Amino acid sequence: MKCKKCGSKAVINMRQHKLGLCCDHFLQWFTNQTQRFIKKYKMFEFQDRILLAVSGGKDSLALWDVIHRLGYKADGLYINLGINHDTSYSQRSMEKVKNFAHDQDLKLIIADIEEMEGASIPEAARFTLRGKDKPCSTCGITKRHVMNHIARQGEYDVLATGHNLDDEVAVLFGNTINWQMGYLLRQHPVLESSPKGFIRKVKPFFRFYERETAAYAFLRGIDYIHDECPFAVGAKTIYYKEMLNQMESKRPGLKLNFYLSFLRAKEEGYFAELRAMHAEDFNLCETCGQPTSAPKQCAYCRTWERTRIAKSAIK
Ligand code: AMP
Ligand code: FES
Ligand code: ZN
Ligand code: ZN
Repeated sequence: MKCKKCGSKAVINMRQHKLGLCCDHFLQWFTNQTQRFIKKYKMFEFQDRILLAVSGGKDSLALWDVIHRLGYKADGLYINLGINHDTSYSQRSMEKVKNFAHDQDLKLIIADIEEMEGASIPEAARFTLRGKDKPCSTCGITKRHVMNHIARQGEYDVLATGHNLDDEVAVLFGNTINWQMGYLLRQHPVLESSPKGFIRKVKPFFRFYERETAAYAFLRGIDYIHDECPFAVGAKTIYYKEMLNQMESKRPGLKLNFYLSFLRAKEEGYFAELRAMHAEDFNLCETCGQPTSAPKQCAYCRTWERTRIAKSAIK
């Protein structure tokens, strides 16, 4: 296969675009596409202060690399979840993020959950019995809360994450087969800030397939953590990703089309009536002041309060 731009040997074939490119032209294409989507979806401007959530994985480190090269100002936020029991997963991913920030001379904020709340994510999940044997729901609640809190405290204009198209399509697939209207309404690559205190959120990589972000990270020589979180084994989204990739291999472009058709349906107003039916009213948490759909205390404060009580009882 030859590069469509220069005729030399292609390193990647993107069948959904009928496009094969050599290393240099792929890196150029990837960077230009990122810029194009940031503009097209009005994600942020050059003067905006961006907080980028970096996990140490390929997507968020590649995103930091690209937006830095494009000239945007983005500080990194790494949340140390304390998932270390057998694979030192958090420890190793934090090292990758620290090294990247150091080498590129970028500002990195580290939020250490154990220091902040007195326990790690797996401990909190055990104490509160949330999610039975898996800490993923405690982890999700915590990450969302901490990202919003730090972005607001630091007066950032926008919070960016490294979600790619495969992530988004797997979530869309799950939301669709379960007809979760509330989630479908909220799923979008750009979520505006809310007057009650949700920061604006964007996903600049939502148009790239996972193999493209992986190729970018690899070709740029970015050192990232290759493992998934040890608790992700058997997760539904991983199963959906496998199914969707099987379909994609027979019908190139299926994943992209599924997601873009969903966005088009939203733009054309097909979800408008639903929006009125599912209008959410947010309150402010009495403990931390962040917005919540709960009447008094947000899920984050409830989780960590229960964890502290349970932990002190066994001491
Ligand atoms: P995941 O939910 O692991 O697929 O990650 C999706 C996105 O969330 C990543 O691309 C990051 O932007 C962000 N993220 C995940 N884990 C962390 C973390 N520990 N610290 C900061 N950001 C994270
Ligand atoms: Fe949160 Fe795995 S449980 S990253
Ligand atoms: Zn070329
Ligand atoms: Zn709270």
